Amino acid sequence: MRSIYYFFALTFLVLFHGPVNSQSKNYEKQIDSLLSIMTLEEKVGQLNQLPLSWDTGPSSPEGDKLKDIREGLVGSVLNIKGASKTRGIQELAMQSRLKIPLLFGLDVIHGYKTTFPVPLAESTSWDLEAMENSARIAAIEAASAGIHWTFAPMVDIARDPRWGRIMEGAGEDHYLGSLIATARVKGFQGKGLGSLDALMACAKHFAAYGAAVGGRDYNSVDMSERMLREVYLAPFKAAAEAGCATYMNSFNDINGIPASASKFLQRTVLKGEWGFQGFVVSDWGSIGEMIPHGYAANAREAARLAIIAGSDMDMASMCYRKELTGLVKDGVVPVSVVDEAVRRILRMKFTLGLFDDPYRFCNEGLEASTLSKPEFRAAARDMARKSIVLIKNEAETLPLKTGKKIALIGPLGKSETDMLGGWSVWWDDNSDVVSQFEGLERRIGKENLLYAKGCSTRGDDRSGFDEAVNTAKEADLIILTIGEDRDMSGEAQSRSDIGIPGVQEELAEKIFALGKPVVVLLNAGRPLVFNRIAEKADAVLLTWFPGSEAGNAIADVVFGDYNPSAKLTTTFPRTVGQVPIYYNHFNTGRPSPDDGPSRNFRTGYTDLEQTPAYPFGYGLSYTKFDYSDLKISSDKMKEGEKVEYSFTVENSGKYAGEEIVQLYIRDRFASVVRPVKELRDFVKIKLEPGEKKTVIFVIDKEKLSFYNDELDRVTEPGFFDVMIGASSADIRLKAELELK
Ligand code: NOJ
Repeated sequence: MRSIYYFFALTFLVLFHGPVNSQSKNYEKQIDSLLSIMTLEEKVGQLNQLPLSWDTGPSSPEGDKLKDIREGLVGSVLNIKGASKTRGIQELAMQSRLKIPLLFGLDVIHGYKTTFPVPLAESTSWDLEAMENSARIAAIEAASAGIHWTFAPMVDIARDPRWGRIMEGAGEDHYLGSLIATARVKGFQGKGLGSLDALMACAKHFAAYGAAVGGRDYNSVDMSERMLREVYLAPFKAAAEAGCATYMNSFNDINGIPASASKFLQRTVLKGEWGFQGFVVSDWGSIGEMIPHGYAANAREAARLAIIAGSDMDMASMCYRKELTGLVKDGVVPVSVVDEAVRRILRMKFTLGLFDDPYRFCNEGLEASTLSKPEFRAAARDMARKSIVLIKNEAETLPLKTGKKIALIGPLGKSETDMLGGWSVWWDDNSDVVSQFEGLERRIGKENLLYAKGCSTRGDDRSGFDEAVNTAKEADLIILTIGEDRDMSGEAQSRSDIGIPGVQEELAEKIFALGKPVVVLLNAGRPLVFNRIAEKADAVLLTWFPGSEAGNAIADVVFGDYNPSAKLTTTFPRTVGQVPIYYNHFNTGRPSPDDGPSRNFRTGYTDLEQTPAYPFGYGLSYTKFDYSDLKISSDKMKEGEKVEYSFTVENSGKYAGEEIVQLYIRDRFASVVRPVKELRDFVKIKLEPGEKKTVIFVIDKEKLSFYNDELDRVTEPGFFDVMIGASSADIRLKAELELK
């Protein structure tokens, strides 16, 4: 009887799934049929995601795991890459009874083969189109290599540079962060899931992972629901609105509940309020980690808590694989709960077209002709140039003129692997990365470029100092390249000291002592404290980790082929003791003046300026932009109205350049305290020398709204400051707006 039923169900499946190329197609009937013939073990299998080691092939010794795949007890695999490998593993899944295809997931964070700048660096471009394109190219390359699913974008708001994962996000602001989340989701998912060049995106880490206490990775988060909704959930909501296929929950507990067991996050907010139709994957082992966390007594309890809360797929902890069948058989977990999770995963497999052809992403020919296309490399170079922040430029040191002898000094000058930054898929093969040395050499020729390493990024070996100093003496100008190496930021790379590590500052002092012009390249995956360097250098470029085209992009900026336009998306503190410091903080009843240490019972530190070293939105250009002629359509706004702010931006310097013009508001009084500034709009404009452009910002009710104490999104009548400027601390034009 059962086999007859199976036959009908399969016939139904074959007849009813046509070509798949749209996310909106409805597969519920096919899913019903499939669910009706799946055993409980097979259902639980769909919820199980297995890590395979990078070099696993069908004949590798990961015996049990591969056996599980053949038996249909695995829904997804992570960490293998390449069309031939994924085909080999998919062939095993096709030996299972129901031949349900596997999903292949991978951390394609800032590029697959063509590596783009780390995400925090990209965010400083404020260039949404370029960021979407960067994600698009990552998806095109990865999908050609058999990957269906990237664990990106990370949309966690981060206000603490000690947290190493700040590198993987879009900075501290939720308005900009939401736009970037949207751009990245759109980029990864392209024309829609089912296209051969689209990846499922995964908004992570749900939620508030970036607010870990003390910036210590995996740590607890305790915050009001108002703060959560207004700031930390905003980019996740934007990702849902952009059609993000999956979410990953986070390692932290939030208000005492581990995120993997949070019904509030997964059922109430994500699947309820936001109507999310995709599925939620746990973070690596996070379901099992509820045991040491002190929330689940054992794996059975952890599995129960997570599935009930709405975590659909278990990444790597094996709690579902081991416990869920028993939990259902014992009547502890209703099978309907399992069915709902399976349905969500199958829905994505149908949408990707894997039931039509499980190998449709495994095309070695396509993979070979897709990776590292010249146009991808060109886009990576452009993105890298757009992500380099000019921090200081005394006496127009930059751009450099050619014809001078330059010494490149420092541990990162010839490194290729460090240029890739955290989360690179190709750390094992960085042969096509353009190092800083290579990029500069191509630009000015071998004869004009000297090099000495000087020291490492870590440790206290000073034995290379003399060589570095002697090399520098032979040059007219020194480019000093220092900072973090690629492993100092990223997951589990929280640091209590965010200064320049090792003996690099000592090396720098010796170079400065020569009295020659020094341009510093600052390599970093997070905001650093580098006051002494900033004081003594003639110019400082924050280059982050720029990716495959690092050296070329840096040479473009150093020699003025590209005029830097990037602006910080995180506040850079003066000292680590000033952390957390972010631009959109609340005032207190006792605010400090901005320009000095706190005195007379005011908030702040008595031994430090109140302002940061570099504020949110900061970044210089080789040219100068003037703002003038503000015209406002009205200084009052009634329900349903909009107010226009029109003004002129002029390039009054001698280079063509781009300016990121920023609009901030402040709600002076409200039923809850509001931030001293909130970014509400921006535009990036390009101006030739002497050129003027009119910029118009429009304020509507939405831009003035916030969550009140009852968690309703409201606007309240009253007065607002409207501030337009070149950074959060460089306000050039101001107006007052009354909301009636
Ligand atoms: C743990 C990280 O937190 C997450 O971001 C990543 O996607 C998974 N590991 C898979 O590698």
